[in-house]
Amino acid sequence: MADKPVLWITRKLSDATEARAARDYDVRLNPEDRVFAPDELVAKSSEVDAILPCHSELFNADVAAKMSDRVKIIANHSVGVDHCDLKALKAKGVVVTNTPDVLSDATAEIALLLMLAAARRAGEGDRLVRAGNWNSWSPSFMVGTQMTGKRLGIVGMGRVGRAFAKMVQGFGMEIHYYNRSRLSPEQENAAIYHATVEDLLPNCQFISLHCPATPETMNLMNAARLSLLPDGAVLVNTARGALVDEAALIDALRSGKLAAAGLDVFQVEPGGNPELSKLENVFMLPHIGSATRETRDAMGFRALDNLDAFFSGKEPRDRLV
Ligand code: DGY
Repeated sequence: MADKPVLWITRKLSDATEARAARDYDVRLNPEDRVFAPDELVAKSSEVDAILPCHSELFNADVAAKMSDRVKIIANHSVGVDHCDLKALKAKGVVVTNTPDVLSDATAEIALLLMLAAARRAGEGDRLVRAGNWNSWSPSFMVGTQMTGKRLGIVGMGRVGRAFAKMVQGFGMEIHYYNRSRLSPEQENAAIYHATVEDLLPNCQFISLHCPATPETMNLMNAARLSLLPDGAVLVNTARGALVDEAALIDALRSGKLAAAGLDVFQVEPGGNPELSKLENVFMLPHIGSATRETRDAMGFRALDNLDAFFSGKEPRDRLV
C-alpha cells in the first residue's frame, strides 16, 4: 500500500476530527494549539502534502509564492477564505477548499443572540447585576428596542443569510435583502429584494451582515452607508470585521444614530477594538459563530471529506480553486 499523504492540521481540532484524520493520514498535529506565523507556514510546507488550516493562518500572496511545491491542497476548516489569496494559490497549482453549509445554523444562532442582546441591552444588564449595582427598578429602566414586527435587512443572502431569515420568522419581521443576484421565489420566501445596498439600508430597523470579506466588501458599512439607516437601527455582524468601518460605527453608536450593535467579528482579531469596549450599547463576542460541538465536528469532517476526495482522484465537493 502507498504511504499515506502527510497532512498538517495547523490548529487543535475536535477529538473526532483528529481521530479520523489520524486513521486516514500521516498527521502532524498541534496539541498546544499555537498559531503559526506566515514564515512558519512557509518553513513547514516542505514537510507536508496537504494542510488543513483555520482562518487564523494567513496564506497571502507572499506565502503562496514561497510555499513548497510539495503542498497540493489547502483544505480549510472555515467557510470564509479571506485569509487565503485564492488567485496566488491557484497560480501555484494548490487546490483550495472550504466548509460551507455545515456552520450556517450555528452562525445564524449567534446572529440572533447578538441581535436580541444588542436590542434588549443584555450586556449592560448583565454587567449591572454582576457588579452588584442593581439597586432600583422603574418603568423607564433599561428600556430597549423590540425586534418583533420590525423590518430586518440582510446583506448577503447565501446559506447563513437564508438560515438567519428562516430563524427570525417567529419574530414576524418583514425581511428585506441585498444579494449579488436575486434569489428564486422559493429561496426568497417572501423576502423583499433590493438591487443595491443603498436601496436596502433605509428599510433596515435591524441589519445583519452575511457576505464574505472581499476587496469589494471592505468597509461596506462606512459612514455614508450607516447614515442611510433609519435612526435608532441595530447592526449585527457575524461575517467578518473587514465589512465594517469601526471608526464610523463608533461615531454612529455615540451619536445615537444606531441604538446598538452586536458584533462577533472585528477588524483586529484576536483582541477586538478597545474603543468599542468603552461603549455600553455594543454587545460583543469573540468570533464564536461556528463554535458548537456539533458544528466543529461537521467542519472537521467536511474538510476531511474534501481531502479524501482529492487524494482518491475525485473533485473535492467544496473546491474553490
Ligand atoms: C468561518 O468558517 O469562516 C468562521 O468564521 C470560522 O473560521
